[in-house]
Parts: sequence; structure tokens; C-alpha cells
Amino acid sequence: MRIREESRTNTSVLDPTTGEQTEINERGPAVSPHEIELFHDKLLYLARGAAIVVFAGSLPRGVDADLYAVLVRDLLRADVITVIDTDGEPLRQAVRAEPDIVSPNVLEAEELVGHEFSSEDERSLAVREIASLGAREAIMTLPDGCFAQVLIDGQPRLKRARIEPREPIAKRGSGDAFLAGYLAARYEGRAPDHCLRFGVACGAESTGRFGAGQIEPREARRMMGDVELSTVEPAEVT
Ligand SMILES: Nc1ncnc2c1ncn2[C@@H]1O[C@H](COP(=O)(O)OP(=O)(O)OP(=O)(O)O)[C@@H](O)[C@H]1O
Ligand SMILES: [Mg+2]
Repeated sequence: MRIREESRTNTSVLDPTTGEQTEINERGPAVSPHEIELFHDKLLYLARGAAIVVFAGSLPRGVDADLYAVLVRDLLRADVITVIDTDGEPLRQAVRAEPDIVSPNVLEAEELVGHEFSSEDERSLAVREIASLGAREAIMTLPDGCFAQVLIDGQPRLKRARIEPREPIAKRGSGDAFLAGYLAARYEGRAPDHCLRFGVACGAESTGRFGAGQIEPREARRMMGDVELSTVEPAEVT
């Protein structure tokens, strides 16, 4: 949808000698209440023909922090999978609106839960806690894969997917690559294990490429075999 102001360009500067990455993020446009209203209507209209709606990124400045929450609630009536990938207050409010999937990275999850995680047990507890805030499924991404509480035959199951972390060429956008891969597999009707494997492979594959969130799907499919997947028993985390 067109808005009056220009959309922003975020630039990542990579130093190939040190691998150091510097982010230059523009402030972004102001979006008027009228433009939000038009977006809201357009989204509800388009959602009628959609399978999945992803709300990703920070909100434009000046926009109410409950925007994602409002949109998720409005989409409950449409037959779509709602996905939230954001942080801070918009995330907090959106989780309570009962989205189908929320996919924070560790930092975003720590902020949401209110403390840092220092062990595997704490990480798996955190994922359960995030789901209990309202999301049907919660996936926390980590540099070595993810923790996820997914529904299998309607029952919540805790999964850990692991991949050997590698020296990244460009990490920026790996969370987006993860989510795109995970959802592409969901859209194809794959089982949760397969979706997690493919998401983690896509995230990992993207870190080996210059550019934000670039992936080579064939290579990502090959890397699925490098992903170790296990089910975490609730007894282990209580
Ligand atoms: N160093 C790495 N080696 C291999 N895989 C990685 C590495 N870093 C990230 N990944 C993969 O990418 C996925 C997302 O990682 P992470 O949690 O760091 O994303 P993020 O912080 O949301 O990234 P961004 O916001 O830049 O898109 C992970 O699930 C993991 O599979
Ligand atoms: Mg992210």
C-alpha cells in the first residue's frame, strides 16, 4: 500500500577483514491515522484470500503499540494463520491477542519474559511461558537453531532444533529467512518437525551469503540433514 512519505532504507556495512557489521537504520516515515485505517481495511479484505498473514518488524513511530494486537484479533474471524515477529510493547500486546505463531529471537524473548536465560532448561521454560501468554505456538530462534512449542494433533509439544553455528558472512535477516522457510513448509502442509528443520536450515544457509536474508533453497534443503531435532519432555523442564 502506498503512503505519503518514503519508506526507509536500512543499510548494513560489512567489514570483510574483521567480519564486523554496522547497522545504519533510517528513522522511517510517519504514517497518518488515516493511512493506518486504509491499511487495516485493505488487510482485512486481502486476508479473505490468504492462508498466512505475517506481522514483522517494528511499528512506524507514532503508531499505537496495540496495532498488531488489534489486527490479529480482527483476523481471528478470517481463516488465516497469524504470525508475529516483532519486539517490545507491540510484541507483548500482540501475544495476548492469541496469534497462531510468535517467533522472537532470544533477546526479544528475554525482554518479553522479563529475565535472561542462562541454560537450556530456562530457554525451554521461556518458550512455554511465551505460549502461555496467548500464542498457540511459540518459536524462539537462537544462533544454533530454535526452541519451539508447536501443536501436534492439537497437543503442545516442545521441540529443540540444533545446527552447528558457523562463522556468519552476513547474519542480518537470518531470523526472516528462518520464518520464511518455516512458513513455506507449513504452507505446503509439512509436519512440524519438517517445518522446524527447514526453517533452521534456511536461517543457517542465509548467514553464509552476502546480503540480508538471501537464501539458496536447494542448498537449504540439503542442509536440513544437518539439523538435529529432539522432543523435550515436560518432565525435563519442570
Ligand atoms: N552463526 C550461525 N550459524 C548458523 N545458523 C545461524 C547462525 N546465526 C543464526 N542462524 C540461524 O538463523 C536463525 C535465526 O537466527 P537469530 O535468532 O539469530 O535471528 P534474528 O536475531 O531474528 O535475526 P535477524 O533479526 O537479523 O533476522 C536461527 O534459527 C539459526 O538457524
Ligand atoms: Mg528477527
